[in-house]
Amino acid sequence: MQSKNKPLPPKRVKSKKSEPKDDSIRLNKFIAESGYCSRRKADEFIAEGAVKVNKKVVTELGTKVHPGDIVTVKGDPVSLQLHNIYIALNKPKNIITTTSDELGRKTVLDIVKKHSRIFPVGRLDRNTTGIILLTNDGEFAYRLTHPKFRVMREYHVKLDKQLKVEDAEKIVVGVELEDGKTAPCELFINPEDHSKVAITLTEGKNHEVKRIFEHFNYEVKQLDRKMFAGITTKGLAKGEYRHLSRKELQQLKKMLGLPF
Ligand code: URA
Repeated sequence: MQSKNKPLPPKRVKSKKSEPKDDSIRLNKFIAESGYCSRRKADEFIAEGAVKVNKKVVTELGTKVHPGDIVTVKGDPVSLQLHNIYIALNKPKNIITTTSDELGRKTVLDIVKKHSRIFPVGRLDRNTTGIILLTNDGEFAYRLTHPKFRVMREYHVKLDKQLKVEDAEKIVVGVELEDGKTAPCELFINPEDHSKVAITLTEGKNHEVKRIFEHFNYEVKQLDRKMFAGITTKGLAKGEYRHLSRKELQQLKKMLGLPF
């Protein structure tokens, strides 16, 4: 038995530089951990030549990659360091903002169908067009939709008639709806056509835009969400989607108080 008083042998202190950390990971695991699909499915994609690593097709199943490598599956970037998926879609008309529809109508996930585990962040009405985010990150989605985070959303609205300045003045200070007063908002009237307005809200109540205008007897003829949380439809035609950039995600997470 070792005496309590006997000095312990000196600890070997390893130099960090001497053994570089092996952060490589099998390609199928990389793809699966990005949330794109299962490992088995990833193997199938690899075998059929649908996977590229740093722009080169890779068909070797045991291939290892590093977190910084650019991996695409059928042209879609998959990224390990984020683990989660963050997509911005410019929703067309007649698309439902749910993960499935019992009546068989087309949903936003039918457009972005490669990522089965993602879900839309909040809702847009069936006939509303514009930006909708989709993710598999529950906390991110929760914060984006919670009124306390005051996430800005800008809508372009076409009304059935010209908006009266006196009604606009009431809208910007808040309107008493059946579920409470709306928060103050910004509103711009198109000087050439007073039935076209841009409204920026920070709450996200159900059908909020339509209910605000209906309160003053206007009918919303067209509704297009141009911006949500700083993400705009710019560069995205209706029905097109893209992955958020690292920079966008960093900014959004900072805004929401989430680690990046
Ligand atoms: N407000 C609405 O009335 N509809 C939407 O789709 C979004 C906001």
